Amino acid sequence: MNQAIELKKGIYRIGVNDRRTHLFENYWPLPKGVAYNSYVIVDEKVVVVDTVERSRMDDYLESLETTLNGKKVDYLIVNHMEPDHSGAIKALLCHYPDMTIVGNCKTFPMLENFYGIHHNLLEVKEGSTLDLGSRKLQFYMAPMLHWPETMVTYLPSEHILFSGDIFGAFGTLDGGIFDDQLDLDYLEEEISRYYSNIVGKYGVPAQTALKKLGTLPIDMICATHGPIWRSHIKDIIAKYDKWSRYETEEGVVIAFSSMYGHTENMADMIGHFLAEKGIRKIRIHDTSKTHPSYLINDIFRYKGVILGSCSYNGGIFPTMETLLSELEHIGVKNHYLAFFANKTWSGGALPRFTQFADKMKWEIVAPHADASGHPKNQDVEDCKAIAYAMAEKLKA
Ligand code: FEO
Repeated sequence: MNQAIELKKGIYRIGVNDRRTHLFENYWPLPKGVAYNSYVIVDEKVVVVDTVERSRMDDYLESLETTLNGKKVDYLIVNHMEPDHSGAIKALLCHYPDMTIVGNCKTFPMLENFYGIHHNLLEVKEGSTLDLGSRKLQFYMAPMLHWPETMVTYLPSEHILFSGDIFGAFGTLDGGIFDDQLDLDYLEEEISRYYSNIVGKYGVPAQTALKKLGTLPIDMICATHGPIWRSHIKDIIAKYDKWSRYETEEGVVIAFSSMYGHTENMADMIGHFLAEKGIRKIRIHDTSKTHPSYLINDIFRYKGVILGSCSYNGGIFPTMETLLSELEHIGVKNHYLAFFANKTWSGGALPRFTQFADKMKWEIVAPHADASGHPKNQDVEDCKAIAYAMAEKLKA
């Protein structure tokens, strides 16, 4: 059983650590697991804010019942309908059949479609309030963070923001649950990877939400994943602001696809020439080995992107295609780009790289390199030109 932890008087976090699931949304790797955070406010009315993923609901319901000690749940607030938070709604409703479910006009069709639930609903809108007795909750819409129905719940009396996925992180909560009880260095990549992988497509809605929520006094951020923020609130908000403006650092991600090593040689050459020009943050990844999750995360961070692929059946290599289509889908902005290719008889990678460049509208810093098999003198010169041009742009 997971112990409920009191955040403020009468306000609890009941969450579960999930170290078993390998892939979040059945796609994104979870090497350090993930936590699902649900919250309970015990006032004259009892409120639950979001639930947990279905596979963990037995633990969750046991903790909730223990915490409530015979009290009933009056309201369930559904900030977000993705099943990692809505998965226990049906079970909760079985335990507390008189419970009212609070959501907005976009929440309820999903509730019906996912779980067939269409009764005891209370619709809220931007700025609506819910009276709990000695406290009132306020609701703010946060569409596309991370689904269209997403909203956040604010508790003005304690300055607590129940933020849903916003300010969330991958990684279980090992030991403590607050940001000042956890090793944030250990979790750093899991925090940024959560943003870039899950929320990264929605930079504009994130900016809108940050401006709106920036007007509220906030002493605690209770997200549905990861640490509860109370000591590093400004830091996590600043990170979200930076990431959602697609602000990058000096550095280069070189992602390559290579069957027998010739294209990898070109990647290493480019890395060497970048280092010669003073670039220190160089991340070279093999797309066949490194999941797009990590590539996307590095690309969110570093301004320079250099992509290389061998040809494969007259097209681009499949794992590079996966990366390109992910980047197009997320719509990552604000990068310098160059690419290189390698062929054995006919090409295939270059047309796809050109299509990608047209779509992304990133600034191309140098003509591409195009080798046939083992890189020759001219190919080395072309790789050098790419690296030098990229370094010059980054240092400008
Ligand atoms: Fe954590 Fe979008 O669900």
